[in-house]
Amino acid sequence: MTTLKLVDTDPADLLADAIVIGVYGQNGEGPLLLAPGAESIAAAFDGRLSQTLTLLGATGAAGEVVKLATLGTIAAPLVAAIGLGPVEGNGVPTTEVLRRAAGNAARTLAGCDEIVLMLPLNEADEPASVRALAEGALLGAYRFAGYKTKPQPGRRPPVNTVSVHVPDAADEAARAEVERATTVVGAVARARDWVNTAPNELRPPVFADLVAEAAVTAGLSVEVLDERELRKQGYGGIVAVGQGSEAPPRLVRLAYTPTGEARSRVALVGKGITFDTGGVSIKPAQGMWEMKCDMAGAAAVAATMLAVARLRPAVAVTAYVPMAENMPSGSAYRPGDVVTMFNGRKVEVLNTDAEGRMILGDAIARACTDGCDYLFETSTLTGGQVIALGKRVAGVMGTADLCVRVKDAGERVGEPAWPMPLPEDVRKGMESEVADISQINAGMDRAGHMLQGGVFLSEFVADDVAWAHIDIAGPGYHNGEPAGYWPKGGTGVPVRTLLALIEDIALNG
Ligand code: BES
Ligand code: ZN
Ligand code: MN
Repeated sequence: MTTLKLVDTDPADLLADAIVIGVYGQNGEGPLLLAPGAESIAAAFDGRLSQTLTLLGATGAAGEVVKLATLGTIAAPLVAAIGLGPVEGNGVPTTEVLRRAAGNAARTLAGCDEIVLMLPLNEADEPASVRALAEGALLGAYRFAGYKTKPQPGRRPPVNTVSVHVPDAADEAARAEVERATTVVGAVARARDWVNTAPNELRPPVFADLVAEAAVTAGLSVEVLDERELRKQGYGGIVAVGQGSEAPPRLVRLAYTPTGEARSRVALVGKGITFDTGGVSIKPAQGMWEMKCDMAGAAAVAATMLAVARLRPAVAVTAYVPMAENMPSGSAYRPGDVVTMFNGRKVEVLNTDAEGRMILGDAIARACTDGCDYLFETSTLTGGQVIALGKRVAGVMGTADLCVRVKDAGERVGEPAWPMPLPEDVRKGMESEVADISQINAGMDRAGHMLQGGVFLSEFVADDVAWAHIDIAGPGYHNGEPAGYWPKGGTGVPVRTLLALIEDIALNG
């Protein structure tokens, strides 16, 4: 992974491969505005830096990167001007603008050994700015190793070192942020790697082994239930979905215990469908490959635990990660089956493609049996989430005030999420003729699809538990062009939201 450093010397004297400065766009009016920090570079250009960048086409629009050879004017051979968009009200860029700027810089300057981020910091909260730059740069520098057998000549290696320019490189708060960002983005990168791994290489037993191995190394306690234990202990949902595949299902439980007294107990649950064909209710072939991302929730939850083990918050955190491969076969579960879940509830299966809620219902019920105060579950659960909120914004359902906390945490870290209701009529529509509940609302077709998922899961949450279901069907996987700190493929959403929530609960209950 890319290494982070802090520097506090004059950027004009730094012998790096590129100095990154910020430029504000004035909506096409007036000269390009150099952001604070670029002063000594501008002086080295005899005050003509802004003019030169304009000649090269710089407008300061967010996402823009304009490179300029320095030809000996400063020590570094290259200046990269990153567009920060229009100047905000108080002249200070938001943390998200900084995060994206750093991500764009690190991504587009691949091939450089060392780059220096000389970007404006918010004086009122410098650590927050350092965190945003550090996280954005590391997230933007991420690259999945991939499977190519021949070297790719055109492919430049990720930046080795990102130096963040700060007023005082010895400042403890700034150093702590660098440390934290390295841990946090290490976890995000792990989640992205797991999502990007080909589904034939990450079937449930292998995925469980990889997670268990990483967790043991991190010092977490680990329990893995295999198919025999799952059957014996009554995990009907996980067994039903897993029985169609030759690669049997797993339930991985990871536990972190704080050194002192735990402020409260947090449970994390993540959907680990290593591939979702739909099963007997099979999906169309077109685009089915993308269902390799159907374990993005599991990856996020497991990776979050790795970061928790290093950050050591004052809360107990336990993760429950059900894993199965949803395949059609002679042994697969079928529409019409009635499945007895871990909490004894009987579910009538109507569509084997609604498999996520089957494995999650069991895992949620197990988490509540163990006992927890807060439960966060995340999954690529419904196509309805993408229809309702798009590819960037996750849907959140559950206890109303916890949903608002998820939304606020998501906003702080740049992983937007929006609260959604759990309407009574949707639950009514899921009444089954023969069992306690239907897996889907057969009559409503696709209306309120995302909400049906949330309503179903609510049946498995104990009454006294504050909970939130975060549907990341859209935000878990990025199929468009890389932008900001988002690469193509797995995004690692919502690792940073979960960490923000855990830290928030550790501080405020
Ligand atoms: N894994 C899918 C949901 C999904 C869709 C994730 C698009 C990522 C991108 C899920 O298991 C599924 O198939 N959901 C069905 C539910 C339906 C059968 C009730 C859906 O959304 O159509
Ligand atoms: Zn699925
Ligand atoms: Mn499905």
